[in-house]
Amino acid sequence: MAAKVKDPARPSLPVRIVVTREEAERAVALEIAELVRTKPRTVLGLATGSTPIGVYRELVRLHREEALDFSRAITFNLDEYLGLVSGHPSSFGRWMRSNFFDAVNVPEVNIHTLDGSLELARARVECERYEQTIADAGGIDLMMLGIGRNGHIGFNEPGAARDTRTRCVELHPWTRADAAHGFGGLEQVPHVAITMGVTTILDSRRLCVMAFGEHKAQIVKRTLEGAIGPDVPSTYLREHSNVCLWLDRSAASG
Ligand code: PGA
Repeated sequence: MAAKVKDPARPSLPVRIVVTREEAERAVALEIAELVRTKPRTVLGLATGSTPIGVYRELVRLHREEALDFSRAITFNLDEYLGLVSGHPSSFGRWMRSNFFDAVNVPEVNIHTLDGSLELARARVECERYEQTIADAGGIDLMMLGIGRNGHIGFNEPGAARDTRTRCVELHPWTRADAAHGFGGLEQVPHVAITMGVTTILDSRRLCVMAFGEHKAQIVKRTLEGAIGPDVPSTYLREHSNVCLWLDRSAASG
């Protein structure tokens, strides 16, 4: 069950610990499904990568086997690498297509991803437009996200301020190192990216955060117990009033 906030100066974050990550993936997918069924025009904030992949798998299954209908859903992706050619195989946009959008019925016009092929000046304009499009859609109802080993949320790397919005950022060395495999080597990993800001994320009405595996144990501990601030951006999650952090036993071991 959700933990109670004992000290308002050091708010805590409701945590659910499960034996296997599949339990968390199913629970998050069911929460999204429930929301989409009760509010077909749900606005979803979507993350990519190894953490949320099982949630997408389950949502696709629910779409195919239980007629979960995304025909009115609206989606906004959290982040994207910058400096990639359009449709780059390692782009998050491409990842989203093969792991989710190609298999469900979110209308093309309702899918919003950040364009990683823009040059910097145009990308900055795109960031402002993205914020406006989110606002025009009525804000994000539910945002799903993971936590990086360095505490990043989206690409809000260590140092990111609480009041940041969608913007271009420089990637942290750990983030680039963690991405190296997917790009076929560290040299191929972009140095810059676009990300929703900390405020953009915290403005979502509900946050479903997940962290799995022993390699996340230390950052989970710091997220839950460290001082809230830019050194570990995931600590900002503790300021949200409707958030759940799903952990498997290994990620909770710290
Ligand atoms: P991962 O990282 O999904 O690659 O473990 C989570 C994140 O960087 O947000």
